[in-house]
Amino acid sequence: MEIVLSGIRPTGNLHLGNYFGALQNFIKMQQEHCCYFFIADLHSLTTHPKSADFHENVKNVLAEYLAAGLDPEVATIYIQSDVPEVSELYVLLNMLAYQGELERTTSFKDKVRKHSDNVNAGLLTYPVLMAADILIHRAAKVPVGKDQEQHLEMTRTFARRFNNLYGVEVFPEPTAFNFGNELVKIPGLDGSGKMGKSEGNGIFLVDDEKTVTKKIMHALTDSGPTAPNSPMPEPIRNIFTLLEVVSTPGMVAYFREKYNDCSIRYGDLKKQLAADTWKKIAPIHERIAEIKANNVYLRKVTQSGALKARESAQATLKEVKKAIGFRAF
Ligand code: TRP
Repeated sequence: MEIVLSGIRPTGNLHLGNYFGALQNFIKMQQEHCCYFFIADLHSLTTHPKSADFHENVKNVLAEYLAAGLDPEVATIYIQSDVPEVSELYVLLNMLAYQGELERTTSFKDKVRKHSDNVNAGLLTYPVLMAADILIHRAAKVPVGKDQEQHLEMTRTFARRFNNLYGVEVFPEPTAFNFGNELVKIPGLDGSGKMGKSEGNGIFLVDDEKTVTKKIMHALTDSGPTAPNSPMPEPIRNIFTLLEVVSTPGMVAYFREKYNDCSIRYGDLKKQLAADTWKKIAPIHERIAEIKANNVYLRKVTQSGALKARESAQATLKEVKKAIGFRAF
């Protein structure tokens, strides 16, 4: 079975765009492949989170992904720092990463531009740590967004360079995992574009019923259609797109008809959208709270995840060290 690996940044909460997009694919992917999901807590240290927040952020994303359907019985789910072999491989790969190529990385140049007061070595070698994450399990596929493609390319470079330097075939060259279908694009509530983290645009899995309802009732609309069968402006189309995701085809057809004969009342449309959205996320919302309150469960999940991940990591590291020339006396 193909090894697929995905790293998750411990920042921000999951919104409907994440849930109906990448996450549904993750849930399917874990059934069909040998999947590793980990929380990239070491990577998050580049921005110096307060220690009180650091652990909390990890706990939040872990709870949300578990609540949303990542299954620790099926996939290997772990926290990056629980697998020290990753850090060890990172040190070794750093010897093969050149200053010039690291400085030319787009994400690094972006950070230098935006945060010139904190250009640390961790930031410069971010792609090396990411390569270590991937190569430690000799993953074949990595689901990545556009912004991570260059990092994956660099991972291939480091893998090839290692194999060539030591005349071995320890590392396969990982490629992007293709979900095989277009990602569902969930629009935001502010009239244009897709759902994101920005205030007022997104609905989050941690939002309670009141918040969900309030956000949807405040979603941007207009004064309504003035002629039968008129084309839908983007904000209205977006509301319908969301309704299609959370509601029944019958309900969508009902409101489409009302739009087309100009009898629609956006208040009713939004009320329906709010009710159906809440119906979809209420069980996950509840599970997030349950999981977050259950440290025993979280400890069990992370310990058994780390155990599985370390087994695979140790096997790789052994070959790596042998190839380099580490020997016991
Ligand atoms: N850099 C990724 C991001 O910002 C997170 C990440 C860290 C990752 N290590 C990884 C993703 C390894 C895939 C594979 O989203």
